Amino acid sequence: MRITATGHAGSYLETAAGSILCDPWRSPAYFASWFPFPDNSGVEFESFAPDFLYVSHLHRDHFDRGLLRRLIKKSATVLLPEFPMEDLRTELADLGFRSFVQTRSGEPVDLDGLRVMITTSVSPADGPLGDSTLSVDDGAVRLLNQNDARPRDIDSILGFGPYDAHLLQFSGAIWWPVVYELAEATKAALGARKRLNGMARAQRFIETVGARFVFPNSGPACFLDRDLFGLNDFSSGLVEDDKGADNPFPDQTVFLAYLASNGIHNGRLLIPSSVAELSPAGCVVTHPMPDGAVERIFTHKRSYLEGYAARQAGALEAERAARPSYDGDLLGALSEWWDPLLALADKIGPGVGDLVLLELTGDAGVLERIVVDFVHRQVRLHAGEECRYRFVIARDLVEAQVARHEVDWVNSLFLSLRFRAARRGAYNEFIYTFFKCLSPERLEFADGWYAEQDEPDDLVRIGDYMVQRRCPHLKADLAKFGELQDGVLECGMHHWRFDLATGRCLTSDAHKIVAYTVGSEPAPAPEPEREPGRLET
Ligand code: FES
Repeated sequence: MRITATGHAGSYLETAAGSILCDPWRSPAYFASWFPFPDNSGVEFESFAPDFLYVSHLHRDHFDRGLLRRLIKKSATVLLPEFPMEDLRTELADLGFRSFVQTRSGEPVDLDGLRVMITTSVSPADGPLGDSTLSVDDGAVRLLNQNDARPRDIDSILGFGPYDAHLLQFSGAIWWPVVYELAEATKAALGARKRLNGMARAQRFIETVGARFVFPNSGPACFLDRDLFGLNDFSSGLVEDDKGADNPFPDQTVFLAYLASNGIHNGRLLIPSSVAELSPAGCVVTHPMPDGAVERIFTHKRSYLEGYAARQAGALEAERAARPSYDGDLLGALSEWWDPLLALADKIGPGVGDLVLLELTGDAGVLERIVVDFVHRQVRLHAGEECRYRFVIARDLVEAQVARHEVDWVNSLFLSLRFRAARRGAYNEFIYTFFKCLSPERLEFADGWYAEQDEPDDLVRIGDYMVQRRCPHLKADLAKFGELQDGVLECGMHHWRFDLATGRCLTSDAHKIVAYTVGSEPAPAPEPEREPGRLET
């Protein structure tokens, strides 16, 4: 198997049984806050002819719409993770991909001699409502592309092995603690913990998987805008005693040095266009430049990034110019959009249980204070009261979000790191779940997911039936969305229909519903009907 690194989480896997392009990314992401590190503008994506395309999830450093549209051949068959929402498939179909293999999480699929398995994680906290890992077996070599996922179904992953190669993330890709208004010493201590925790977690995965070779991957991104440039970690694992201990974005060389200091010496560095030839006999890595030049990227990172920033000045300027503005009443627009979502948020609302203040700023300071009131489930003007959570965001960024009707503000605004935050008390997952679920479908799925954790067997009476409360499709609350007519229950969220006498779904063959007539014994919970991965064109 030949692995060509394409930058960040990207790789091109070539085997005798077929090739897979994974997570190709080049376009600046998140309001041009993130760029691939090292620079991957020399990677010739257009020269690849992949049999398969694998996009692990929809975060924009993994799903690059512009690159996929312009440079990736649409003849590739997409290997689709089993996500609860159809967004990834829809996006790729919109880009022109026509052939899909819908996989089942943790179940291997044989593709004419190439065995693959995608394992998904689908809690609201996993990526943009879903993240995944890819296992590949070409008959001679097995590879695990974990990228930035944190899989919980580790038994399925190990069952596919043993592995020769393991690609995984080790560095932060999050705004905590860098955007928080904290004392510098506190922020440094938290940054140091974040930095070490990320590498220690990766080490645990490495030891659990036990692959012959490990390849640091999926980050860190670098920050080329002058407003964010100071967030880069300028330390290097190639320089003895180099400092950087409180930066949460350590690079590949720092992680390899960390592994070595813990007795793990099978890590291999890849930069964009590096090639790793893997065979049962071993692994040979070839870089696209002399070793000294590779080392200088990391040992002279500040000057490397300054040069990179100069080359990308036009891209930064173009992104700024392309941000759409919103001339209307911003409070009115947010209220019209979010009030109905807050009304659906029966778990998320109480989960936040407080006020979230959005301070929108411009050149003259704070222009507007808007409260997302999770207690009374409404968006309104701030009346001066205490708010447990506060975000300070440039108004033009919020305008762009509204103008684009962006339904996932985590996968757009928050990952940009272009804001400041403060809170009293601990991290609250429900807040960010709300901000990544700004459509009824997404909100119902996430709220339903939390509800199921609390009440897995919750039933509701509809007509003469007791029915499982959450829709088997995407967990809409059937007490609100279910309509019964002639023994057929229709969920108003996406109009899936269920025959309550048999529990059979009349819309899709893979979902059943638990239902019984009032007064009769509950039917046992149905086993999910699972089909092996299949090719759809
Ligand atoms: S949630 Fe989609 S049909 Fe019910």
